Amino acid sequence: MAVRSGEQQTLIGVLLDAQRTGINRGTSGNASVRATGGFVITPTSIPYDQMDPSDLVKIDDAGIASGLHRPSSEWLVHQRIYQHRSDVNAIVHLHSPSAAALSSLRLDIPPFHYMVAVAGGSDIKCADYATFGTDEAADAAILALANRYACLLSNHGLIACGDTVRQAYNLSIEVESLAEQYLLARTAGMPVLLNDLEMDEVIANFHGVGDARPSNN
Ligand code: 13P
Repeated sequence: MAVRSGEQQTLIGVLLDAQRTGINRGTSGNASVRATGGFVITPTSIPYDQMDPSDLVKIDDAGIASGLHRPSSEWLVHQRIYQHRSDVNAIVHLHSPSAAALSSLRLDIPPFHYMVAVAGGSDIKCADYATFGTDEAADAAILALANRYACLLSNHGLIACGDTVRQAYNLSIEVESLAEQYLLARTAGMPVLLNDLEMDEVIANFHGVGDARPSNN
C-alpha cells in the first residue's frame, strides 16, 4: 500500500506537535492519510511519543486492517470520509479544548471572523452527536463536512481534512483558534456576524491564493 513520501512520519509528527502545544492531550485524537487501495491510520491508544511509522495500521478498501496494532477506534469514520470525498487525502481528528467545549454546546461556528472561510465556506458546522467510531458518527461527520474541510463533532472535538497531513493539521489549528475566539466573544455578548456578501468576498480571495477549496460532494 503506497503512501506519498514522508506522510507517515508527518502523521506522527503533527500529533506530537499537537500534544507539545497542548492543542491535544494524552492519546486522544488520531490521524490518517490516503494510500493506494486504502489508507494508513494511527493505532488506538498508543502514546504519540512512543509511536513510529511501523506502528501505523493499514486499512484496505474492504476495511481489512493489517499491522502490529489495532487501528484507531475511529477508523470507520476516516474510511467513510475517504470514500465520500475524493478531494480529501488526509484527516486529523483532535479533542482540542475549545472545539470540544463549543461542540458540547452543539453550536456551529458562524461567520464571526473572516477566517471561518478557511474551512471552505461561511460557517463551520457542528455534526450531530453519535457514538464515536460508528457508522452514525461517520454519517453525521460527512453531512457536516459538505462543502467544507472541517467540522466540529458534538460533545467530542473536531475533524479537519486536507490534501496533505500538514494541510489538515494546519486547518485543525485554525479551527481550534476560531472555536476559542468564538467562545471568548460569546462570554461578552453576541458577536456581530459578517454577512453573505462579506464572506463571499473573503472566500473569493482565499480561492485566489489557493486556500481551502471545497468540492461539491
Ligand atoms: P484512538 O486512540 O482509538 O484513535 O481514540 C482516540 C480518540 O480521539 C477517540 O475519539
